[in-house]
Amino acid sequence: MKKVVLAGSLIILFFLLMLLFPKKDEMQSTMAKDKNTYPFYKAENKERYLKYQNQHPELEEIDVITRVNLNLDQPFYTNTKEADNLQSSSLLVSKYRYLKEDYIPKDLEEISSCVEGTRLLVKDARIHFEKLCESATKENMKIRAISSYRSYAYQKKLYNNYVQKDGVELADTYSARPGFSEHQTGLVVDIDNYKTDYNHFETTKEFTWMQENAYKYGFILRYPKGKEEITGYDYEAWHYRYVGVDIATAIHNTNLTLDEYYVRFLEK
Ligand code: DAL
Ligand code: ZN
Repeated sequence: MKKVVLAGSLIILFFLLMLLFPKKDEMQSTMAKDKNTYPFYKAENKERYLKYQNQHPELEEIDVITRVNLNLDQPFYTNTKEADNLQSSSLLVSKYRYLKEDYIPKDLEEISSCVEGTRLLVKDARIHFEKLCESATKENMKIRAISSYRSYAYQKKLYNNYVQKDGVELADTYSARPGFSEHQTGLVVDIDNYKTDYNHFETTKEFTWMQENAYKYGFILRYPKGKEEITGYDYEAWHYRYVGVDIATAIHNTNLTLDEYYVRFLEK
């Protein structure tokens, strides 16, 4: 009788331990079932999620799913595809999502304030940049658009010059390859304060003002410090992307990059 009780207890103990310490595979596959928790979970990416989670045990599940959906489990510039939602101010252009050589945004217009020379933005971005300019100027901030829409051909020239100067590996950390620059969307403006080199824009009071106010006009800092692995680019304190006021506010409040926000909330 004692033996039966002992055997029964051991069996119960065994199942309890199984429940407490599931095998690694089972533990991982709970993530892969979580479509309800993460609406952007994609069943076809399951194997990639598991592999990436193994390689990056430090990441939360939500970040594993987000990064794999962005293609970050593959080297930059592999498995590239054309960007979706070309007509939307929230489109995503990245090292995996390109614009065709002949893509020219509709409604490009000349910026009329906080600028020297001819600089173009898509109409809505142009209007919002000028509003931003008006508020900044009232608060004694000096902002100047130094680069905005860039054609495929212009980006090609720019990138090739950087490659000549620094080599491909280094150039890729700060310059987009032609077709992969979001400057080609007409939704981006690089700014300085007229006197400090744009590379040091971070040190200016205008930068502080932009940190506090840009989102109110629909602009976000597109390549933030500490997010280089996600955006694929070095920190750029001068590069602002128009996404519209609602999305800019959400990004400002959540501290996500546009890449992360896009796959979590916008991608269909
Ligand atoms: N400097 C940014 C990444 C560009 O070339 O579009
Ligand atoms: Zn830029």
